[in-house]
Amino acid sequence: MRRAQEGRTARRAGSNRHRPAPAPEAAPAEVPKGDPVVGKDAFIAYCSACHGPDAKGRPNLGKDLTASQFFGSKTDAELIEYVKRGGP
Ligand code: HEC
Repeated sequence: MRRAQEGRTARRAGSNRHRPAPAPEAAPAEVPKGDPVVGKDAFIAYCSACHGPDAKGRPNLGKDLTASQFFGSKTDAELIEYVKRGGP
């Protein structure tokens, strides 16, 4: 019995799933370093339908992100919030 409980604890310690979400004010320090290869795949899968595979936008769909002042003026943490929650 005791050994089984220890086993569960050890497994939990090795997993990120049970960590509490970081506090919003701590977000900038918590932003992980991006992986451009993974990010490109995610962009193609989730964003390119409207923003285009080169992020230059599609008429009447997504904006050109390469020329976007909004995009260029935000930190990574702010952009993550924008993608997760939407704009103001
Ligand atoms: C269904 C179409 C669609 C998809 C899919 C989409 N977008 Fe957009 N996106 C838009 C439109 C339309 C706007 C312009 C909204 C506005 O001007 O109010 C926009 C605006 C933006 C902006 C703000 C640009 C600016 O200059 O204001 C960012 C950043 C952005 N999208 C990022 C993304 C990312 C990252 C993804 C993928 C996770 C994504 N979008 C997926 C349609 C889309």
